[in-house]
Amino acid sequence: MTAKKRVGVLISGRGSNLQALIDASQAPDYPAELVLMISNVLGAKGLDRAAEADIRTCVIDHKNFGSREDFEAEMETALNEASVELLCNAGFMRILTEGFVTHWLNRHINIHPSLLPAFKGLHTHKRVLDTGAKITGCTVHFVRAAMDDGPIVVQAAVTVSPDDTEDSLAARVLEAEYKLYPHALKLVAAGEVRVEGEHVVGMTPEAGQTVLFSPPLPDTL
Ligand code: GRF
Repeated sequence: MTAKKRVGVLISGRGSNLQALIDASQAPDYPAELVLMISNVLGAKGLDRAAEADIRTCVIDHKNFGSREDFEAEMETALNEASVELLCNAGFMRILTEGFVTHWLNRHINIHPSLLPAFKGLHTHKRVLDTGAKITGCTVHFVRAAMDDGPIVVQAAVTVSPDDTEDSLAARVLEAEYKLYPHALKLVAAGEVRVEGEHVVGMTPEAGQTVLFSPPLPDTL
């Protein structure tokens, strides 16, 4: 097997997607290893998860910096020191500058809890419920300067139930996220997908075609 890609993860909070990546990356044939986790929030729960898994952690609190550029320069130093090749945002709540995004172009992915390009931004599940949408889901995409924007790697569709609350819907989408994010990172790390003209294309017939359905589609409607 070719060398595993060295991955850095950026978080701000709970880190349950980080946990899914940690769990997946324990498999011997997984093409990525998590070598650094940066949190911009002191005390974020994700820090404990990374420490538990013996992943190097580092807190870089944006509040200690006078500008976004200075904050990002500190992150770049840490990422460089750990020889990070690919970056994953996992609940990372900072807007990144064009300069940072360009430096990591097509080597940097994010997970968002909706079927992009619908419902970008915060309070996603509440807005989904407000519209009466019957299907929502989650998306892993390459990061671009605009929020929740960029070439889509993979998506999972999740049904909305009539009695869903914001919390119940979030929980169901999260279950799909935990499958989708490790799968997306595998595709990217193994070079099974690449960006062409701002679309992600699969290098094999299967690679670009993954769509998860939760619950699975019935045979007949
Ligand atoms: C997830 O729903 C993710 O899609 C979004 O932020 C949430 C982070 O949750 N970007 P966690 O920190 O991974 O538990």
